[in-house]
Amino acid sequence: MRLKHLLIFGALFAVSCAAPAGDEIDRKVEDLLAKMTLEEKIGQMNQVSGGYQFSGEIAKGNVGSILNIVDPVEINAVQRVAVEESRLGIPLLVSRDVIHGFRTIFPIPIGLAATFDPALVEQGARVAAVEATASGVRWTFSPMLDIARDPRWGRIAEGSGEDPYLDTQMGVAMVKGYQGEDFTDPTSMAACIKHFVGYGAAEGGRDYNTTMISERALRNTYFPAFKACVEAGALTLMTSFNDVDGLPSTGNEWLLRDILREEWGFDGMVVTDWNSSGEMVAHGFAEDLKHATELSINAGVDMDMMSFGYVQYVKALVDEGKIKAETIDNAVRNILKLKFRLGLFENPYVDESLARQVAYAPEHLAAAKQSAVESAILLQNNNDVLPLKSAKRILVTGPMADAPYDQLGTWAFDGEEAYTVTPLTALRKDYEVVYEPALAYSRDASTAGIPAAVAAARSVDAVVAFVGEEAILSGEAHSLSQINLQGAQSELIKALKATGKPIVVVVIAGRNLTIERDLENCDAMLYSFHPGTMGGEALADLITGRAVPSGKSPVTFLRDAGQAPFYYNHPMTGRPNSGTETLLNDIPLKAGQTSLGCTSYYLDTGYGPLFPFGYGLSYTKFEYANIAIDKAEYAEGDTIVVEYDLTNTGNYDATEVAQLYVRDLVGSVVRPVKELKRFERVELKAGETKHCRFELPVAELAFWNRDMEYVVEPGNFQLWVAGDSATGEPLAFAVK
Ligand code: BGC
Repeated sequence: MRLKHLLIFGALFAVSCAAPAGDEIDRKVEDLLAKMTLEEKIGQMNQVSGGYQFSGEIAKGNVGSILNIVDPVEINAVQRVAVEESRLGIPLLVSRDVIHGFRTIFPIPIGLAATFDPALVEQGARVAAVEATASGVRWTFSPMLDIARDPRWGRIAEGSGEDPYLDTQMGVAMVKGYQGEDFTDPTSMAACIKHFVGYGAAEGGRDYNTTMISERALRNTYFPAFKACVEAGALTLMTSFNDVDGLPSTGNEWLLRDILREEWGFDGMVVTDWNSSGEMVAHGFAEDLKHATELSINAGVDMDMMSFGYVQYVKALVDEGKIKAETIDNAVRNILKLKFRLGLFENPYVDESLARQVAYAPEHLAAAKQSAVESAILLQNNNDVLPLKSAKRILVTGPMADAPYDQLGTWAFDGEEAYTVTPLTALRKDYEVVYEPALAYSRDASTAGIPAAVAAARSVDAVVAFVGEEAILSGEAHSLSQINLQGAQSELIKALKATGKPIVVVVIAGRNLTIERDLENCDAMLYSFHPGTMGGEALADLITGRAVPSGKSPVTFLRDAGQAPFYYNHPMTGRPNSGTETLLNDIPLKAGQTSLGCTSYYLDTGYGPLFPFGYGLSYTKFEYANIAIDKAEYAEGDTIVVEYDLTNTGNYDATEVAQLYVRDLVGSVVRPVKELKRFERVELKAGETKHCRFELPVAELAFWNRDMEYVVEPGNFQLWVAGDSATGEPLAFAVK
């Protein structure tokens, strides 16, 4: 099943009532606006969580949108109140956090990013939209575009990792997948790009924490994915909880008006995060909820999620002249426009039998499985232990082997664990399985079950240990200061290693954990960010060799949490370490203060990461050769053409994610040491060579420079084509 089929599938449910387009929508918006009282306008700006209990308010026209109901019967019922009982009959917009699937749960977004496969991610978002809209949900709060460079932050699970280019590709793919080609198609679900902005830079990885991001860093790193998604037609945007340099986003006019509307031309709708308007009081940025309401609306927010400040105070604020009537009209225009765009006036109701018909459709499960296969990253495979081809009898152990709820990951509100295929279930089809979980859940610190697992290990050909994190340990508000495997999981792996049997560790987690100590105690490690409904089947395919790993890490793997934030594309220091670090135990007693070289590294963990961004092994090997660029010098309007030969030198048909990195050697401001500019999934049969090519317009070397202008600065550059961000030999070129 491919996207086309899903689109056709969606179209089957399209009803014939056509929604208006373009100018006609504007006309309809103006007509309706002219009929509305101030109270009704304020009602449209109010989003509440719940259904039936708000019927009275909905009938009065005091609610514009609801979130968090998914039962089509309830959705139709409250919609009927809005359409048939409120004075103007304006339909509600029903929303939900459909973050990585609705019923069929896909890998968490960091896992989706590891696929480096935007087409597949788009397909997954389409599946989510088909399932969610069948329940009546026409608006999702996804994609989360927050760049995250600190795995202590639990919400690293929800984004595409540390790199702006990858983030952009994934974000745009999701927007396209959710919204489809025609907003009025009943399977089109409005995307909401969030959290604008900088939320992932929370100091110390503590959720909701303050951030200090310069305008240049915003523009070079945090804005690009948002801007690209605006250009791709994202219908809505959510403000973030955090402040940037003292200004909470929900009250930041520069962000919401100057950048978003003026510079980028966003014509969609802006919603707060959950009570992020009200939380400006806690920030100490607003005196009280009334003041927060004034600040957020004047900053450019259209809809308030759950502060209830708008319904309470906007009328008074307008009467007092603190908010202009025109500002309210503009906010309501954006909201009504969205509702017209989605065809809600023409088709407010959903067929109540549809949701169950489309949930978990075989093609949805197939897409989820393929996503889980492509998202798994092979970090280590000593002696080619994987795939387990000759093993007949295996020990399956560890707390994540049969954790149907937890493998769904964070934000799987509507996924049902009864549909989850766990690794244990799947592997039983392939091997004679001995199952000894040893630990009841990931935080289980009791070692009492370990001896039974060790004893069982002695009777098998190989051991597969599923460790990691329960879903609750990552996601919103779930930050950690230490990100080693929790509980007695590392002890379990160590004890198993002592048996001398081949040990495969599969990590199922919400973040890039610090797993260095565990690597030493296993032969192979496969890293699967919470893989969703079909995770078990996907992992069984990879373990048996029916599928070959192709995932690449969208984040840097740290040796220790103390290295965070750590990311490959950091600005160059004046004292880089070139691998000559003297580590703690090698420092002579009474060593002279400057005798270690005075470069940038940690005495205990050294300079480098455990695994770099873009890293991931395969069951085969790939060789890059004859990498060549077409010119030594380019002019601004040129396109750089890079050609290379990629050979699969091993015995498995496989896919390699080839990556193109660039470094701008000298800039008017310090530039990143490397930047991902292109990637491509290249499928190769065993022994096959393909001649491949990347094209990179010189214009894409632009950045926000010293004068805060977006320009390509002439000068010398380096370029790499490689399988990760840390290998390959640079080629030189210049821009004149
Ligand atoms: C989260 C958002 C989410 C919203 C609605 C907030 O707590 O930060 O990402 O969309 O809740 O559930």
